Amino acid sequence: MQNFHIINEGRAKVKVALGKISKQLPVFYNPVMALNRTISVLLLNTLSNIKMQLADPLAASGVRSIRFLKELSKNKITSIHINDYSKGAVSSIKENFKLNKIKSAKVQVYSKDANIFLLESFGFDYIDLDPFGTPNLFLDSSIKRLARNGILAVTATDTASLSGTFPSACLRKYWALPQRNETMHENGLRILIRKIQLIASQYEKALTPVYSYSTEHYMRVFLRCEKGKKKVDKLLKQYGMFNDAGPLWLGQLWDKAIAQKIADSAKKLPYINEQDKKFLNIIAQESKIPVVGFYNLPKICKKNRLTIIKQDEMINRIKHAGYGISLTHFAPNSIRSDIPLNELITIIQN
Ligand SMILES: C[S@@+](CC[C@H](N)C(=O)[O-])C[C@H]1O[C@@H](n2cnc3c(N)ncnc32)[C@H](O)[C@@H]1O
Repeated sequence: MQNFHIINEGRAKVKVALGKISKQLPVFYNPVMALNRTISVLLLNTLSNIKMQLADPLAASGVRSIRFLKELSKNKITSIHINDYSKGAVSSIKENFKLNKIKSAKVQVYSKDANIFLLESFGFDYIDLDPFGTPNLFLDSSIKRLARNGILAVTATDTASLSGTFPSACLRKYWALPQRNETMHENGLRILIRKIQLIASQYEKALTPVYSYSTEHYMRVFLRCEKGKKKVDKLLKQYGMFNDAGPLWLGQLWDKAIAQKIADSAKKLPYINEQDKKFLNIIAQESKIPVVGFYNLPKICKKNRLTIIKQDEMINRIKHAGYGISLTHFAPNSIRSDIPLNELITIIQN
């Protein structure tokens, strides 16, 4: 006999099964992913897109869609299509809709394989792929059904492959070599982005990241879809190796205006904690420094036999030398900066 309880997440209420978070739960709900869903809400509210047709192909309890319905600005949603192949999940979605007193003609619930659900649709302005493990299985159908100017949101939880624990799995699944080092999470995210873009390029769709991050056990990226051969060709020129990892995406991880708006609107949310606000703020800062990778200070100091200096002092010195500088959300004790390594070493020495 399974026990359930009702929890609050954002403005939604969800009935969830008690027990260890695993695929074995009758209906999957992971509280750690609340931030993933909060960022999706913030991003959609930040974009200028309105009257969107939304798809939640792997919906589980439906919490994500319920939050969209309760938290997105009024003019955002024309319709929302919620799917999960598990019959248990579909019952739970319906129950959670009742619990949240949502009766809306905008909502449709399906119980199909996600690829069939997507391919049988007429297309969407926002598709949120939040699978167990790799999103690969659902990329082709999502991209086929992604509208011009639409947003594809992708979560990957197979971070062990993407960040270098299993290089051969990464080669097989993502057609690139990862590296197990201090920038492994950024590299992994860039490898994932390239894979998504390559699938899209077949359909002459250019998918550019507007917001991305890596935290906890997952990586996440939101990409905007433009159509046209020239746009695709331009994207395909932005691949290369980075410190022996790759080929990977060397272009932008963020639209800096979007990153700043997300951090600013998070400050006004009553339910978001200080740690998460800080996380979003660091992303907003690093989005302003368009370089690939970052410097891990303890590693640089150790390698060059330098005494580490206080972070604030270092930031001041780098700014004073005329370079951009920010912390990075990818790793502790690390900075994102356009300062060349030799100058950074000189700055630490003096
Ligand atoms: C990680 S959970 C989704 C969590 C949910 N998006 C959230 O924010 O809480 C993945 C869900 O995908 C469903 N699923 C897995 N493979 C599927 C497929 N091929 N077609 C449809 N649903 C699938 C599972 O039943 C599970 O509920």
